[in-house]
Amino acid sequence: MIEFKNISKIFQSAGGPVKALDDISLHVPEGCIYGVIGSSGAGKSTLIRCANLLESPTEGEVRVAGQDLMKLSSAQLRTARRDIGMIFQHFNLLAGRTVYDNIALPLELAGKSAAAVESTILPLLKLVGLKDKQDSYPSQLSGGQKQRVAIARALASQPKVLLCDEATSALDPQTTASILNLLRDINKTLGLTILLITHEMDVVKSICDRVAILSQGQVIEENDVESFFLSPQTELAREFVRAAIHEKPAADISHQFRQEYEAGCRPVLHITFVGQTVVQPLITQAARICEVDFNILQADIETVHGKTMGFLMVDIEGEERHVQDAQAFLQKHNLQVEVVGYVS
Ligand SMILES: Nc1ncnc2c1ncn2[C@@H]1O[C@H](COP(=O)(O)OP(=O)(O)O)[C@@H](O)[C@H]1O
Ligand SMILES: [Mg+2]
Repeated sequence: MIEFKNISKIFQSAGGPVKALDDISLHVPEGCIYGVIGSSGAGKSTLIRCANLLESPTEGEVRVAGQDLMKLSSAQLRTARRDIGMIFQHFNLLAGRTVYDNIALPLELAGKSAAAVESTILPLLKLVGLKDKQDSYPSQLSGGQKQRVAIARALASQPKVLLCDEATSALDPQTTASILNLLRDINKTLGLTILLITHEMDVVKSICDRVAILSQGQVIEENDVESFFLSPQTELAREFVRAAIHEKPAADISHQFRQEYEAGCRPVLHITFVGQTVVQPLITQAARICEVDFNILQADIETVHGKTMGFLMVDIEGEERHVQDAQAFLQKHNLQVEVVGYVS
């Protein structure tokens, strides 16, 4: 549905040229919720703004719903943009217009009659749960309600694609969850393709189907969300996953922790499990069968892309060959096992 082909973007600034995007190719399939995650300054906003040509790439091709946007005339681009809704971190509502009139704006600009506007807006108000707020002004709304208005406004022209630029970054965790649920509902009920950018792994964890990591204007990793959590490939991806699973070994062992093996040290394993393995007592079985002891350093269960996943950090005590047997046992039972260090 959205295709970036070899996109680069260079900004000319007072301090010289800034390469914000460096040869990015990404494909967002129809019906997908696609997350792009990265630290501040990675190029996320620039990338998402290329999807509707709010920002024109210096090089490359942007295709949305089969159209090569850079080849369109300005009139054709205006029409094409009706297929592309967008919401922002700070909502961008007009303070002097009511909820109803804010949502009506794109329809009025498209020259729709008052009756056509009303018949579009009423179901949208219901969809976003703001039926009783249609005559309120933005200043009378909470952050979550403002973002609901912005979502309804973005949906008014019945787009095929919704772009979300840090849409929940100004909201508290509970409100974030309710907005993410709304986006997931819209994705399911309307079949809307969603491209979102975020610096929060929790957003990716709860609603995205696929994810790409952006670093210094480049895509350094791309995967379906489950595989991404199960086996992140780059150090940055590992960092994002660790943050999402709140990984932080207990303080009193962290000073004993080392990266390299030394005689007498015990290996520290990072174990990730998903699906059936979550409900199997594999750790106690491994302990019994392989004659080792597990010391749990950290444990966390998360729902990732609708599936339960477990993240466990343990050190294993026992004879060296027993320790190896235990690792092999866990791997044989489809657990993802990685030695992340050693403790003495
Ligand atoms: N209009 C601009 N002019 C000059 N530099 C810009 C402009 N917009 C963004 N940049 C630079 O491009 C890089 C990527 O910015 P941005 O896409 O906003 O990152 P992110 O959204 O990931 O924080 C940054 O180094 C930023 O300073
Ligand atoms: Mg940004």
